[in-house]
Amino acid sequence: MEARRLGPVVGLGTWNTFGSDARTAREVVGAALESGGRLFDSSPMYGGAEASLAVALRGRRRDAVIATKIWAASVEEGRDQFRRQREWFGRIEIEQIHNLQSWEKHLHWLEAERAEGRIERLGVTHYSPASFAELAQALRTSRFETVQVPLNPREREAERELLPLAADLGVAVIVMRPLGGGSLVRRSPPAEVLEELGVQTWPQALLKWALSDPRVDVVIPATRSGEHARENAAAGSPPWFDDEQRALVERFTR
Ligand SMILES: NC(=O)c1ccc[n+]([C@@H]2O[C@H](COP(=O)([O-])OP(=O)(O)OC[C@H]3O[C@@H](n4cnc5c(N)ncnc54)[C@H](OP(=O)(O)O)[C@@H]3O)[C@@H](O)[C@H]2O)c1
Repeated sequence: MEARRLGPVVGLGTWNTFGSDARTAREVVGAALESGGRLFDSSPMYGGAEASLAVALRGRRRDAVIATKIWAASVEEGRDQFRRQREWFGRIEIEQIHNLQSWEKHLHWLEAERAEGRIERLGVTHYSPASFAELAQALRTSRFETVQVPLNPREREAERELLPLAADLGVAVIVMRPLGGGSLVRRSPPAEVLEELGVQTWPQALLKWALSDPRVDVVIPATRSGEHARENAAAGSPPWFDDEQRALVERFTR
């Protein structure tokens, strides 16, 4: 699999998948690791997903890049979340502020943790275009090293300001919702189209569509299936799509 600034380009999201089901977590996380995935995105918002991820990574924590989040209104609650994450994962490679929640309050203590080496990179996320102006404002402080935004053929608002800004500032980009939360994979185009795109499956075409933008570092499709995790990981190798192939994918998502 190709690696960019955050490592191999296909990671794994954990929202609404295995939750506190550690057995499913072991299967899906194992499949992702075995097929070359490294980055696992989670959050205290995702029920028991962080704890299950920690169980699934027992004995192979060193192979993983943990991208989790602080999702807390107060510093005290945020510090509690971080304490639990330290118990589960040790060092956090990417600590993101979830949906910009109280981001100005959290930055100071998170920067201190990074200075102590307990966090490697700080990031910030938001799913809603209504908050992209504030996300841009947060990036312009130059205090974040990663940003996480939605990007798929039907959600392209990040292309307007955030992707160019991230590129200018050298901020790495994590793509959430690369399959539109599952809505884009319900129907697949005919086999000739997949052949023209050089992929086996439609979800792979969608992941390649996002990864063909060189400003993107990693996509994090979520799944509760080991088979899907393997299928998704196979989309992480070149060749990438040219403009015509990207337009072809877009045509089948209208
Ligand atoms: N504000 C934030 O910070 C924020 C917001 C949204 C998302 N995120 C992160 O981004 C991650 C990804 O976004 P998402 O989970 O909303 O949406 P997504 O990854 O675009 O879509 C997930 C859906 O796609 C299906 N799927 C995955 N691989 C498949 C395959 N090969 N074939 C068929 N179906 C497939 C999954 O079902 P199966 O289980 O059946 O495979 C699941 O229903 C989240 O899990 C989370 O980690 C962050």
